[in-house]
Amino acid sequence: MFLPFSRYLAFALLSIHETVCTELGTSPFNLRPFSINLSSGVRTMLNKIKTTELPHFPEYPGVGSSFGIDLNTLKSLRKEWLTSFDWGKEQDSMNQFNHFEATIEDLTIHFIHEKSSDPDAIPLLLLHGWPGSFLEFLPVIDQLVQTATTSLGKSISFDVIVPSLPGFVFSSPPPANWTVHDTARVFNTLMTDVLGYSTFAVHGTDFGVGPGYALYDEFNKTTRAAHFVFLPFYPLKPDALQALNITLSPLEKFEEQEFIQWDSSGSGYFLEQSTKPNTLGLALYDTPVGQLAWIGEKFISWSDPHAGTGGSVLDSNEILRSVSLYYLTRSFISSLYIYAQNPHGFATEYTKAHTNAPMLFSAFKYNVAFWPPALAEKVGNLVLYRNHESGGHFPGLENPSALIEDLREIGTYWTT
Ligand SMILES: *[C@@H]1O[C@H](CO)[C@@H](O)[C@H](O)[C@H]1NC(C)=O
Ligand SMILES: *[C@@H]1O[C@H](CO)[C@@H](O)[C@H](O)[C@H]1NC(C)=O
Ligand SMILES: *[C@@H]1O[C@H](CO)[C@@H](O)[C@H](O)[C@H]1NC(C)=O
Ligand SMILES: *[C@@H]1O[C@H](CO)[C@@H](O)[C@H](O)[C@H]1NC(C)=O
Repeated sequence: MFLPFSRYLAFALLSIHETVCTELGTSPFNLRPFSINLSSGVRTMLNKIKTTELPHFPEYPGVGSSFGIDLNTLKSLRKEWLTSFDWGKEQDSMNQFNHFEATIEDLTIHFIHEKSSDPDAIPLLLLHGWPGSFLEFLPVIDQLVQTATTSLGKSISFDVIVPSLPGFVFSSPPPANWTVHDTARVFNTLMTDVLGYSTFAVHGTDFGVGPGYALYDEFNKTTRAAHFVFLPFYPLKPDALQALNITLSPLEKFEEQEFIQWDSSGSGYFLEQSTKPNTLGLALYDTPVGQLAWIGEKFISWSDPHAGTGGSVLDSNEILRSVSLYYLTRSFISSLYIYAQNPHGFATEYTKAHTNAPMLFSAFKYNVAFWPPALAEKVGNLVLYRNHESGGHFPGLENPSALIEDLREIGTYWTT
């Protein structure tokens, strides 16, 4: 029988992905392949970038970036956006991965799913933060899927799942009363009922540790290992560390200082996004250059000063494609809401997770918050703690090889 073209296409896609998801098409979650195409908005975006007026000279020359993004930095990024940035090329590179959508609890959940050829591969859920997206993990996916060895010589590979948090890029905005605990429940459904895994490991960074730690703590039958580079607990100031007799190495002292700096002069965004996300969101909704100033400042100030060189792919192009993705998907406002929806997202009281599953932690020198091993072990079954001299708040982009190596250690402790 002759199939109409669209039916034929759906059929062809179905067979391509047959091995990836056998339930495709018949799933109550309407699991479907997804491909990024935001091309229709690019011309308008570039036009807005071009017509946005910026001051000719800084109002207060010589202050550098100490009072926020430097005008010259913003101008140079804008110039690159207009002259050499190529959305089509970025979109093609994002589409090299297998993207899907599923409908869970009335939300569209977008995710990348890359399977290992090893039947014993560990399912690994990678959770991004703000102002991140699934882009934070693109440099680590291919290698995690390959079979490698842990430090003890155990064979290890992963099936990698990278969802967009609700309200971020292609995942639909959740209701106003939504919290990271709800996201954890939805992602648990994604891993088990939608994708068919009975157990899995989770990794989280930044606000991704909200749902990441909730999975570890509240879904202890399915979440059988966790690796974090951030924790949903407010770090301690030096006097509080001292009161606990926690002493720091020179590297740890540096990292503690990075936290103090974030806490004293770098956390204004946190308060604004937690309290008035609408004002900020609407103010910058239709201005890509505005979103670039707000988001770009974070990528720059939260990363290793060597970002974009050596093993780091966090260069200006990465910032521009991240901001373009937020802008073109119209998700800037809903991304901000995660702060307002989770007023206790970073707890001040340290409590232990209800699980015996192993927890691994990696610190990166230029991250904006710091937890020494003695604090990390208060909140979970800490089995491995590593500290890295290079990288900052975006390890997947800044030091992908260290993140890959540390994630592979999940294999050392994986028992289920
Ligand atoms: C993307 O969408 C545009 C219309 O907005 C269409 O012209 C183009 O062919 C699409 N590209 C792909 C690769 O599907
Ligand atoms: C959250 O809001 C939705 C409507 O958007 C409502 O159906 C649901 O009951 C609310 N949940 C709670 C816990 O209040
Ligand atoms: C810290 O060390 C001092 C001196 O050894 C001791 O008196 C105090 O109880 C310790 N405090 C904690 C919280 O362990
Ligand atoms: C999971 O959590 C429940 C509730 O706190 C607890 O009773 C149970 O022992 C935990 N299971 C594991 C395997 O840690």
